[in-house]
Amino acid sequence: MHVVSIADLSDEAIVAILDKAASYGTPERSLAGKIVCTAFMEPSTRTRLSFEAAAHRLGADVIGFSDAATTSGTKGESLEDATRVLAGYADVLVLRSPEEGAAARAAKVSPVPVINAGDGTGEHPTQTLVDLFTIRQALGHLDGLRVAVIGDLLHGRTVHSLVPALRRFGTEVVQVPVPGMALPDHLDAPHVTLEEAAACDVMYATRVQRERFGGKDFQASMDAVTINADLLNRTGSNAVVLHPLPRVDEVADDVDDLPSAKYFEQARNGVAVRMALLETVLRAP
Ligand code: NCD
Repeated sequence: MHVVSIADLSDEAIVAILDKAASYGTPERSLAGKIVCTAFMEPSTRTRLSFEAAAHRLGADVIGFSDAATTSGTKGESLEDATRVLAGYADVLVLRSPEEGAAARAAKVSPVPVINAGDGTGEHPTQTLVDLFTIRQALGHLDGLRVAVIGDLLHGRTVHSLVPALRRFGTEVVQVPVPGMALPDHLDAPHVTLEEAAACDVMYATRVQRERFGGKDFQASMDAVTINADLLNRTGSNAVVLHPLPRVDEVADDVDDLPSAKYFEQARNGVAVRMALLETVLRAP
């Protein structure tokens, strides 16, 4: 069972993972003897370390790399060959690549499950599980909610997995893009102002992915998408504020202490959710 796209998980599978993640108490060792390989060819803090913490909590061993410069990729080895080799060393491959479609290519040749930990501007399905979990934890359910996605919605892969998943669970999505960075056509959603977004149940902020488009000038447009305490107070907003992190200017520090700020909890939830995903993937027939 590969998890390349959020579409690879049925609604029932998603709910089962969220329920499982909510049920962890003391660490279990259900994956003792298994080896998880984290193959990260692009910078990461949360995704890699929460996968590794999840693996350790379940008693699995971890191998991997966090910098492609230390691998044979620099000698010209193809992703397919690297995948076949790593699959001989581990029971599951957690792969991050700067290239869209990399996880799908790896999944094609891998005899062990491949989990997409982010493929360029493609998808980030495990972040979506964390996001759904956090929304459900904060608001109790997903159906009937309104979620505003904000920021760089063109290059940001987290929303490319999150938006279709939210819709599957009956959540309405609206967008506040940085100008020129709206959701791709196949995910299109109504445009609203930041003030209108503040009336939603959730404001989901994302970072401008400057490394993916050469960092052309966008700073002047940031005001239109920056969430700060003044905006939330002025609009009387009750919105839960989420961000996959890392943040730069999208959410001001003065939001951090408000009860609606849930982004650090969201990051913390990464461990339980990835524990549930690893167990699901490694126990699936
Ligand atoms: C995101 C990513 O890598 O896509 N981070 C994460 O996994 N939590 C978001 C980002 O880099 O902006």
